[in-house]
Amino acid sequence: MEIIASAPGKTILFGEHAVVYGEPAIAGAVNKRATIRLKEASDVSIFKSNDLGFEAELDTVAKRYRLKKGKPGIIKYILEILHKCHDHSPIELDLSLDIPIGSGLGSSAAVTVATLAALFKYQRKKFNKSFIAKKAHEIENNVQGVASPLDTRVSTFGGLIYLSKDKKISKFDTNLKSSFVIGYTSKRGNTGRMVKSVKSLKNRNPMVVNPIIKTIGKITDEAKIAIIKKQEFKLGELMNINQGLLDSLGVNTNELSRMVYLARKAGASGSKITGAGGGGSIIACCPRNQDRVFKALSYHDNAIKVNFSNRGVFVKEIR
Ligand code: MEV
Repeated sequence: MEIIASAPGKTILFGEHAVVYGEPAIAGAVNKRATIRLKEASDVSIFKSNDLGFEAELDTVAKRYRLKKGKPGIIKYILEILHKCHDHSPIELDLSLDIPIGSGLGSSAAVTVATLAALFKYQRKKFNKSFIAKKAHEIENNVQGVASPLDTRVSTFGGLIYLSKDKKISKFDTNLKSSFVIGYTSKRGNTGRMVKSVKSLKNRNPMVVNPIIKTIGKITDEAKIAIIKKQEFKLGELMNINQGLLDSLGVNTNELSRMVYLARKAGASGSKITGAGGGGSIIACCPRNQDRVFKALSYHDNAIKVNFSNRGVFVKEIR
């Protein structure tokens, strides 16, 4: 018997940083996924991935591993899951990943969600998506010290979601067809550090920064309407305004700014930082010209074409 489970990556469209202060946010699952194949192993648990070029033997009791090939990376999440949620009987996990690591597309959340779904199915446990989302958030918290529940929720449920001021999550009843491009440099952002630096800017200049944060919240609400009405050019315009405000919060960098302007020049209707900034990624809305934007961003940096996807986690058994 083999179990296959797959979960999508995600991107934040609007509301990063402002969401920390209770403003709304919009995020969505994308058509890039993490897929886990799980089966019984003979004497030791194994985690391997051709896509990432690694293989390791796992000691799930002691939470240790012996690397046979490649770099460890995502293995911390797998070990935490098997340590916390498994009876330590030997299994083999094989990961395929078409979400680039470090692209800001939530690869660790997607791997965590897919692994939990595969494991629960293998254990013949009764579970639903809410349970997976909750457990995945706990795992990410344990590994990272702090994690946004948005990543694991979006990866579990799929679709475009709106997180309201009172922290309620609702799915959009729209199917936005627009294509997007994510651009990312090899310099990764540090979310904790960026959140702290916005906080201290806000503490030093509350009269100026508080209204900026409120305005980002207003942009998110305007964007919600634009998404429902499928107004892709309006959406782009709102992304550009949001980018200006993120810049004013000090989370922009030369590289991100260069990519933002390159994308607009190549025909994106809007572009902005996605995620915490300070390195990391940008997202460009491309109702037209997706190829041109992709080429422009790939020239100096890395880029990936994405669309939003309604497909959350799924799991099946193969006999
Ligand atoms: C990071 O992806 C998004 C931030 O708003 C932090 C968070 O919401 O946890 C910057």
